[in-house]
Amino acid sequence: MPGKGSAKSIEALLDEYIGSEIEEYLKLREEKMTFIEIPPEAEIMEIKDLYKPWARAVIIRDPTTGALKYIVDEIPLTQLERRVVKRLIDMLYWQMEPPPSGVDVRDYVEAEVKRLIALYGLKRLGRRVKWSKILYYILRDTVGYGPLDPLMRDPDIEDISCVGPGRPIYVWVRPYEYVPTNVIFYDPEELDDFIVKLAHKAGKHVSVASPIVDAILPGGHRLAATFRKEVSVAGSTFTIRKFREEPLTIIDLIRWGTLSPELAAYLWLVIENKLTALILGVTGAGKTSLLNALATLLRPTTKVVTIEDTPELKLPLENWVQLVSRPSHGIGPYKVGEITLFDLVKLSLRYRPDVIIVGEVRGEEAYVLFQAMATGHGGMTTMHAEDISAAVKRLTSPPMNIPESYIPLASLAMVIRRVRLPGAEIVARRVAKVWEIRGPNDFFTVAEWKPAIDAFEIRVEDSQLLKSIAEMLGKDTVWIFDEIAKRTTVLTWMAVKKITRYRDVAKHVQKYYAKPDLMYRTALEELKQLREAEA
Ligand SMILES: Nc1ncnc2c1ncn2[C@@H]1O[C@H](COP(=O)(O)OP(=O)(O)OP(=O)(O)O)[C@@H](O)[C@H]1O
Ligand SMILES: [Mg+2]
Repeated sequence: MPGKGSAKSIEALLDEYIGSEIEEYLKLREEKMTFIEIPPEAEIMEIKDLYKPWARAVIIRDPTTGALKYIVDEIPLTQLERRVVKRLIDMLYWQMEPPPSGVDVRDYVEAEVKRLIALYGLKRLGRRVKWSKILYYILRDTVGYGPLDPLMRDPDIEDISCVGPGRPIYVWVRPYEYVPTNVIFYDPEELDDFIVKLAHKAGKHVSVASPIVDAILPGGHRLAATFRKEVSVAGSTFTIRKFREEPLTIIDLIRWGTLSPELAAYLWLVIENKLTALILGVTGAGKTSLLNALATLLRPTTKVVTIEDTPELKLPLENWVQLVSRPSHGIGPYKVGEITLFDLVKLSLRYRPDVIIVGEVRGEEAYVLFQAMATGHGGMTTMHAEDISAAVKRLTSPPMNIPESYIPLASLAMVIRRVRLPGAEIVARRVAKVWEIRGPNDFFTVAEWKPAIDAFEIRVEDSQLLKSIAEMLGKDTVWIFDEIAKRTTVLTWMAVKKITRYRDVAKHVQKYYAKPDLMYRTALEELKQLREAEA
């Protein structure tokens, strides 16, 4: 029996082994070593570390077919190591106490695993296995996302989906679009188990009796899944839409060409003055991100209430109330405790907001939102629609039922699309059109993206909204065009300076509100200097 002292020294020895192994792996990685075989004829598009040294992504292209593939290159386990991992996970499962509150789960499990290795594994197996790797895989499969863990770590991946066992997991990865990966659940049972675990992570339960899940994973990732063959022909399926910690900012969008600084400046003025905007687009087009980026441009003291089904928005505003709807916990027709978007929009009016933001309108809440807009509240929302006429059609039909005469209460609509750039294989997002809504059937295209030249055309001179803003503020049109020009300069400067982080963008927006002229002059001066330096 090892005494207390020797157990300690075994743990020290383990740490030493782990340290030296990791060093060795890091060295191998530096030599561009891949552990998974890459077909020699493949064209390598990109190599990136996802979690050093354990996981790396290699994106390859078949030169004859042009097909892309996303290869997760993890340091593989030997057969013996795989058995050890399985054994230790079983032991953990039976022996581990739940972590005390306030303790980082990952650290806690790591300490537990090391304790188990020191107790049961190290003496018997010595250095026949790589303990660092075993630790990686155990953490990956317990506190992490299992075989998906490397994919969850790739910031360029937006969603991860599985259409059933035996088929490759697909990822939507910037800038390639959907690409199959080398991650596959071959065994249907393994996939079923994985989905049960995912659902648990999201605090939900999935079973044959209740075979669909729509839930939020820790970290805000959205999970949709089906269980076994109950509702999906091929067997269990899932899609994870990854959530960004750091929301995309208007400067990110400008830098990626989603909109131009001038268009952003125009929208900024419109939103600041509590006019109302609809953001249209298909699923995953980038509506919510655009909404969030635009809302960040609001004056920091604006009172905002946001209303969502899942909390996705993140605003740098002090005076912000974030409301989230709640599904019913009743079964069948007996809806118990349900709080809908409709309830919340009604409630929000009591909060006397300057601006009401509804994450996405789908039903009767649209009606209340339009009523709120009629009484002078600013409003912003997103809606699933291809363009303005489709949006109006949806708004005026059940279940939204907005009278046609209400439509012009929205001042502005814009559509964001995934587009293929001319001459390039990559897709990008563009605010394809912006309309000023002048009547129930009168939509003036104030800005438009031109695909052939990948540029935006914007007709500020013809904008009625700008004119009415000027009037409202007691200014003239010269002032308003000047204001657009100034904001364009400030936004361009931020884009050039790569001020993209959410907090930094908010800080600069705040500065602009406080001292517009000072900030404009600084931006102008610095842009001039940069241009001269370039010339
Ligand atoms: N302009 C953009 N450029 C690049 N990526 C973007 C852009 N806008 C959004 N994305 C990414 O696209 C994904 C989907 O974005 P978002 O959730 O905003 O879309 P959505 O239209 O609201 O989707 P849904 O229809 O599911 O509500 C996110 O991962 C986001 O990071
Ligand atoms: Mg959305």
